[in-house]
Amino acid sequence: MQKKIVILASGGGSNAEKIIDRLHSSSEIDVLSVISNNRQAGVFDRVKPYGVPCLWIDKKFYQSDQFLFLISNLNPDLIVLAGFLWKIPKALVQNFPQKIINIHPSLLPKYGGKGMYGANVHQAVKESGDDFTGITIHYVNEFYDQGAIIFQNQVKINATDNVSTIAQKVQQLEHKYFPEVIEKILKN
Ligand code: GRF
Repeated sequence: MQKKIVILASGGGSNAEKIIDRLHSSSEIDVLSVISNNRQAGVFDRVKPYGVPCLWIDKKFYQSDQFLFLISNLNPDLIVLAGFLWKIPKALVQNFPQKIINIHPSLLPKYGGKGMYGANVHQAVKESGDDFTGITIHYVNEFYDQGAIIFQNQVKINATDNVSTIAQKVQQLEHKYFPEVIEKILKN
C-alpha cells in the first residue's frame, strides 16, 4: 500500500525540496502536504514545481485541536520536520508515536536544545574546536532534540573552516541522507 508523508518546514525548504524530488516519482510514497508556520517561507516557492499542496498555519490554529484534527485526517505514515521551528504539541507526539522525525544539523546530543538551530549550531561547533560535526535524524518526543536517534553521519572540520563552510558541509549530508533515511523508514 502507498505510504504517505507530511512535511513541516519553517524556512528555505532545501531539505523539503530534496525529499520531494526523490519521492515524487515513487508510486509507493506520496507527499500529501507541506505545512509551514511562516507565510514568507522559501519552502513554498521551492516545492511549487512539484504540485504538492501547501498550507500556512498560524500559532492559534497550530495550538488548537484543529491542527491535530487536520493531521489525523491526513493520516500520514510519517511526519517529517525539515527545519520546522515550533515545538511539536504534546497531543501530536502522543497521537503519532514513532511517526514524527526531525533532522538536526549536529551530532546530537551535542549542540541540541532550545535555540540551537541554523548558524547558532555551527557557531557553537566552531567555538568548541571539535574535529567532527554532522547530522542527526531522530524521532520527536516532547523535548527538543531528545528523541531516539535513527541515523547519524559525520564530516571532518578543518582548521580553515568557518561557520559558513561548516554549514555547507552539513547541508550536503542532509540533502544526501535525509531522503534516503525517510525512504528506508517507510519501506520497512
Ligand atoms: C537544516 O539545517 C536542518 O537540519 C534544520 O533546519 C535546516 C533546514 O534547512 N532542522 P532548509 O530549510 O531545509 O534549507
